[in-house]
Amino acid sequence: MSNKESWGSRIGLILAMAGNAVGLGNFLRFPVQAVQNGGGAFIIPYLVCFLVMGIPLLFIEWSMGRFGGRKGHHSTPFILDSMDPKRVFWKYIGVFGIFTNLVVAAYYCYLESWTLAYIWHSINGSFTGLSAIEIASFFNNYTALSDGAIETIFFWILCLVLNTWILSKGLSGGVEKAAKIGMPLLILFGILLAIKGITLKAGSEGALFDGFVGLNFLWTPNFDSIWSAKVWLAAAGQIFFTLSVGMGTIQCYASYVKSKDDIALNAMTAGWMNEFVEVLLGSSILIPISIGYLGIDKVVELTQSGGLGLGFRTLPYLFQQWGDVISVAAGVAWFGLLFFAGITSSLAMGTPCMGFLMDEFGWKRKTSAWAFGITILILGLPTVLFFNHGVFDEYDYWAGTVSLVVFALAEIILFAWIFGMDKGWKEINLGADIKVPTIFRFLIQFVTPLMLGWVFIASLPDIWSKINNIDIKAKIAASTNLTEIAELNTQMNYLNGSRVLLLGIFVAISYLVYVAYQKRIKEGRKTA
Ligand code: PHE
Repeated sequence: MSNKESWGSRIGLILAMAGNAVGLGNFLRFPVQAVQNGGGAFIIPYLVCFLVMGIPLLFIEWSMGRFGGRKGHHSTPFILDSMDPKRVFWKYIGVFGIFTNLVVAAYYCYLESWTLAYIWHSINGSFTGLSAIEIASFFNNYTALSDGAIETIFFWILCLVLNTWILSKGLSGGVEKAAKIGMPLLILFGILLAIKGITLKAGSEGALFDGFVGLNFLWTPNFDSIWSAKVWLAAAGQIFFTLSVGMGTIQCYASYVKSKDDIALNAMTAGWMNEFVEVLLGSSILIPISIGYLGIDKVVELTQSGGLGLGFRTLPYLFQQWGDVISVAAGVAWFGLLFFAGITSSLAMGTPCMGFLMDEFGWKRKTSAWAFGITILILGLPTVLFFNHGVFDEYDYWAGTVSLVVFALAEIILFAWIFGMDKGWKEINLGADIKVPTIFRFLIQFVTPLMLGWVFIASLPDIWSKINNIDIKAKIAASTNLTEIAELNTQMNYLNGSRVLLLGIFVAISYLVYVAYQKRIKEGRKTA
């Protein structure tokens, strides 16, 4: 059956894994997080989180995936189950590894589809001659579905169909090919734009500041906020999101690695490649260019509200300053880069769900791919229709932030303390092409779980205030404007509604896992 499939080549696997990690998070989320958290103040917690949580989790997830794959499991419910077959509940913890991907894919593909539309508009010259305000409102209209709703929907569906089609071609025939084309182009476009960003000169082409002003803002270490829990949480959240750990995609990709092939070096190559792209390219484009033209204060202000849109709201206007030809090229390079970054990640989000359907219900790859496509069409619809009511951000908060920490914490406890560190360490080193420093054994066993536990506990107040809509309620209480109060109330309903929907999805997937489990018992197939 198609689930016997594996990766075509090592370079293909590494590019696919790097493509999984390198995504919109590297170019849109990272710079905005860094600015919101004080620039240089963010970078120390960020690097520490990479070393003590990111890398250990990469080792764990790759080895869990290969371990599960050896037993024929390709999604986290039964991968986790096979690591502790005596207890029944792990398979339900594993539900996170499908839930997160479905929900993140639902809003991520929408974001990805904007890049297609913006490539088209860059080529088409739609931005030529528009003022800064007009370009910003272009984005607002696009997402508000006010004028040209059809266009927004068209690009969104196109993006879903593309993803589904590539997924239906399988790993080596689809995902791997997309990564082999997308990754090199992305890096090329990224380097070109980064050179332009860094060499921006105050006074030429309308720039107010040198590109270095933005870079200095990001990179001058600042120890002031090193004790701020908020900055640490943001840094940890960014590391999880950008490396795609705590999601279930790495386990799924790694489950198709041959049983004795290296994972240690592969994990490091893909992980460091992601950091290279994030830290070097991700910080040399959006921020230096925006700060070069708008100044630090304005950019900080812009990132405070709806940060992810920054690259869409401002860059097409700033590119105009470089003349007709270069502005088109820069638009195509920037949105093209975002598109390739996005699609190689959204493809990864499709695979755990497909693996589950193929393993448990014997579905064909094609059918599973379409099942995934249709599911994210349905789940994505609220983010498209109610974008301005905050549904998009709500999905990102629960599935793209909270779930990752919860799942990572659970899996590290399983790996280091139940499966056991002796076995775990052997798994990591099996077939390894590098000598993994022994310090990681200690980190995985003690430091990473403690850090994760701390991150989780430190997030609880925030989670609690979200659930209770504390911020919106405060705004309602403070407002005397009836229309505004009505709007805030509507928004609250949308947020509550989306949480119920997300919970419903989680329950539905758990039910499918339950059915699969019963089916296994009936057919006498061992679960481990
Ligand atoms: N790591 C991706 C990014 O940086 C996001 C992602 C999330 C990818 C979940 C796969 C799974 O954009």
